[in-house]
Amino acid sequence: MSFALRPLLFAIDAERAHGLSIEMLAGWGAIGTPFAAASTALPVTVAGLTFPNPVGLAAGADKDGRGIAGFFGLGFGSVEIGTLTPLPQPGNPEPRLFRLRADRGVINRMGFNNGGLAAALARAKAAKRRGILGINVGANKHAVDRIADYEAGVAAAAPIADYVTINISSPNTPGLRDLQHGRALVGLLARATAARGATPLFLKVAPDQEPTQIDEIAKAAIDAGIDALIVGNTTVGRPPLASPDASEAGGLSGAPLAPLAAQRLRDFRSATGGKVSLIAAGGIDSGAEAYARIRAGASLVQLYTGLVYGGPGLPSRIVHDLAALLARDGFANVEDAIGRD
Ligand code: FNR
Repeated sequence: MSFALRPLLFAIDAERAHGLSIEMLAGWGAIGTPFAAASTALPVTVAGLTFPNPVGLAAGADKDGRGIAGFFGLGFGSVEIGTLTPLPQPGNPEPRLFRLRADRGVINRMGFNNGGLAAALARAKAAKRRGILGINVGANKHAVDRIADYEAGVAAAAPIADYVTINISSPNTPGLRDLQHGRALVGLLARATAARGATPLFLKVAPDQEPTQIDEIAKAAIDAGIDALIVGNTTVGRPPLASPDASEAGGLSGAPLAPLAAQRLRDFRSATGGKVSLIAAGGIDSGAEAYARIRAGASLVQLYTGLVYGGPGLPSRIVHDLAALLARDGFANVEDAIGRD
């Protein structure tokens, strides 16, 4: 199915287009989407949770949990809402979202705009789930004790979520990524794991890391009993880009992020030695790319920017193409292909 609305969405401001898409998905959630959900069963078990297929919606697309049922209706096996902060906050001034059309990328400096944990958790609780629901939590920009915000977020989200993600990798909250290192990281993980009860806890990291930092995060995550690492968030790096907005400040996502994200996935795989499940994100926009990340060590994949260019039929297409690639190479299921390269 072609994506008839794309010319309209590309003609208007990126953030308005996103808002319209979420409203449409919220409506479709109630009435059923015109994009049939993937019929292909491709189950994967991670942290004791059985995902109906390995293709998930990455955080940031549905921050406030307004379109959960609609996104599941597109065929995603999992939907991760958030990032949510304890208090509502407006985020950075607009414009803060830029399409890099010639590069099939996006730059954003949203800055955790969201309506706050409580409102989204009420929606999450009420939403129809056709797969696994993740809730991604973060810290308010002006929090006095940022780690306390994570602790509160994990405690509030854990009873409702299938898994909770702590996101310490956004480039758009000044100083946030300092939590990825040293005593701050160990302290954060101790308090977050104490707050999660029995709910699986994932950690989302930035792709902008040196080898020693990767080793440090891997060790801290293993020691704390983190269930999975999401590798990763947007990059502050700028590979060669052709689009006019390429020098806007913020995090880069989509196709130009793919090589770095794939490299970091391999780095985290060797650093963790298979002791923690890995979830790949960054420029995944086809069955072939999803398959390559799985073969490189990912148990699951997530995407966001691919939807902007590939349209709402993309998740189902990826699941379908992934199933064909697994069958072509003689794998009976996803698990058998994880880390084969
Ligand atoms: C994001 N991403 C993101 N991640 C996160 O953990 N919390 C968030 O609130 C957001 N917000 C957000 C907004 C926008 C506009 C974009 C484009 C991205 C990052 C996202 O989840 C993902 O990690 C990266 O975008 C890389 O994947 P894609 O987009 O290349 O598939």
